[in-house]
Amino acid sequence: MTAPDTGNDGRLPRTGKIPYGGDYNPEQWPERVWDDDHRLFSRAGMDTLTVGVFSWSLTQPAEDAYDFGLLDRVLARAARAGRHIVLATGTAAVPPWLAKRYPEVNRTDFEGRRHRYGQRHNFCPTAPAYRRLATAMAGRLAERYAGHEALLAWHINNEYGGVCHCDLCAEAFRGWLRERHGTLDALNDAWWTAFWSHRYTDWDQIEPPSALTEHWRGPDHTAFQGITLDYQRFMTDALLGCFTAEKEAIRVHDPDTPVTTNLMGAYRPLDYHRWAPHLDFASWDNYPPPDAPPTRPALAHDLIRGLKDGAPFWLMEQTPSTTACRDVNPLRRPGELRLATWQAVAHGADAALYFQLRASLGACEKYHGAVIGHAGRADTRVFREVAALGEELAQLGDLTLGARTPARTALLFDWDSWWALEISDGPSRLVRYPDVVHTYYRAAREAGADVDVVPVTADLTRYDVVLAPVLHLIRGDLPTRLEELTRRGGTFLATFLTARCDEHDRAFPTDVPGPLAGLLGIRVDEWDARPQDVIQPVRMGESCHDARLVFEIVQPRGAEPIATYGADFYAGTPAVTRNRFGDGEAWYVATALDPSGVDDVVRRVLDRHGLVGPYAHLPAVETAGRVTPAGEHLLFLLNHAPAPAHLTAHTAATDLLTGKRYARGEPLALDPLGVAVLRPR
Ligand code: GLA
Ligand code: ZN
Repeated sequence: MTAPDTGNDGRLPRTGKIPYGGDYNPEQWPERVWDDDHRLFSRAGMDTLTVGVFSWSLTQPAEDAYDFGLLDRVLARAARAGRHIVLATGTAAVPPWLAKRYPEVNRTDFEGRRHRYGQRHNFCPTAPAYRRLATAMAGRLAERYAGHEALLAWHINNEYGGVCHCDLCAEAFRGWLRERHGTLDALNDAWWTAFWSHRYTDWDQIEPPSALTEHWRGPDHTAFQGITLDYQRFMTDALLGCFTAEKEAIRVHDPDTPVTTNLMGAYRPLDYHRWAPHLDFASWDNYPPPDAPPTRPALAHDLIRGLKDGAPFWLMEQTPSTTACRDVNPLRRPGELRLATWQAVAHGADAALYFQLRASLGACEKYHGAVIGHAGRADTRVFREVAALGEELAQLGDLTLGARTPARTALLFDWDSWWALEISDGPSRLVRYPDVVHTYYRAAREAGADVDVVPVTADLTRYDVVLAPVLHLIRGDLPTRLEELTRRGGTFLATFLTARCDEHDRAFPTDVPGPLAGLLGIRVDEWDARPQDVIQPVRMGESCHDARLVFEIVQPRGAEPIATYGADFYAGTPAVTRNRFGDGEAWYVATALDPSGVDDVVRRVLDRHGLVGPYAHLPAVETAGRVTPAGEHLLFLLNHAPAPAHLTAHTAATDLLTGKRYARGEPLALDPLGVAVLRPR
């Protein structure tokens, strides 16, 4: 793999306002329709079109034939209208001729079945034919369009993901393992192969984990966590290798234009922290499940922002109205699109793009929402909402571009811990990493704190509070950096199942919680896991909360109990502890507290640093701060309730969306699903 060429600060496309537009597939339409499209784009305030995402079979109809005629006309048409192009390399869906000629390019699944041609995201990441042809396509496109007046950014591939289990990948995995472990002794040690007679004496004996080898009952049940973890890391790197190869090919012809690929938020199969240094800027596709609370997309926004050290990101896709891929696809209610888009901007999005601008007439996405429906009308509710939003976003001009989030709270997010926890046999398969992470994130956000969701390698010196929910694996110098945080007065919070194992998922040969035991001032010898319906009452001061799933039995070794279990043989022992360490505190929550319990703990932690926000008593009102490059602190207010919210302005401010001025202490009403962007004055 090549070294990242942008460092972590990256490089965003330069625009004078929030780019607005989205995925556009004019190749599906006769060219006379394009004029209608552009007329409608103008009416909707759209200035940015993502093109070419699925056009490989057109741009290269045969191995030795390239045809960029259509793309030339698409770009020329956009340039004539003064619109920007985000140009995709189109390598996420291989053309039929390629799969036929090089069958090894088709993926092999977890059960070992070599697939035949079909669908998309269907390429083996290590197949040389795929790498060669995808890279050649990226290079050709860059050669042709570098410097084009419409070109704003490069969009490599599309939603990289999935896994391949073919023989080529097995061989590449062995090579990757040699690089990672160096010797078979080191590998045997890392994987703990004395267990079940697995000692490897030749690299060739190593089989990738699959249904035919170490797994049973699917990808989460493995006999060797170390092997499966390494395969997940390897697959992350293999797909990343496809990205960096295309990026290099682009860079040969175009040294400047920013390059990205559209990520998928908290997507388990790929460790995006390994990708981050290679992206010029981060972008992602936001399709929250219909029943998700607003803190779910918020968490994903903050995670994506955390990839580039807090730099703004792009919202590359969202539906203006409805998805098609779910069994049941609810419609976004009036106002919901606007609220979701402002939420993205509030969390650091510097672009707001849709999938898709005009709806397909055929195939599996024909019912997917679009700005322009099958009939090509502008007088639909969806079009009107999209156009009104375009106008509203344009009102901000360039004010929010480049603005940073002033977070004093960090939440550590770690793919290794996610994988390790969910492929672990014991203590409980009911503990789901994103759920616990979300519970803590939600508590901090609803208390009004801005939160950076960051990797364990992040610089922690800028934070007052660091939250580490179920951080199962601990590696590197993290324990030392957490001690430094606490020593200088910060607050650290960890939960059950944190710091259990090293980077290879081997338990520490010490007391639990391993290298954090001293900082947390506790020792855990036993833990009890129970079914979902078993509730353990936890008493915290005057209040009582429910706890579930895992109950660790904590022996204080310097820490003081903050809450205690109320039942079973460990009744009266601590469920939550606090250890004073230097000038700060280290908290431990030994069980899966219900949301009100987590609120209770997290608000006490935030309160110590004055981080509970002025509207924390209104759970439906989300607040998020951004500091503009000029140093102005903007505060976004987002009312997620279908009823009005009545606030009292916490400071003298102007709402940038209405121009209304508020004195400090003056009533401020938000409409149902309403938004305000407060600029202090
Ligand atoms: C993804 C893809 C798009 C489209 C949408 C539909 O985000 O990138 O091509 O399939 O989903 O929701
Ligand atoms: Zn493969």
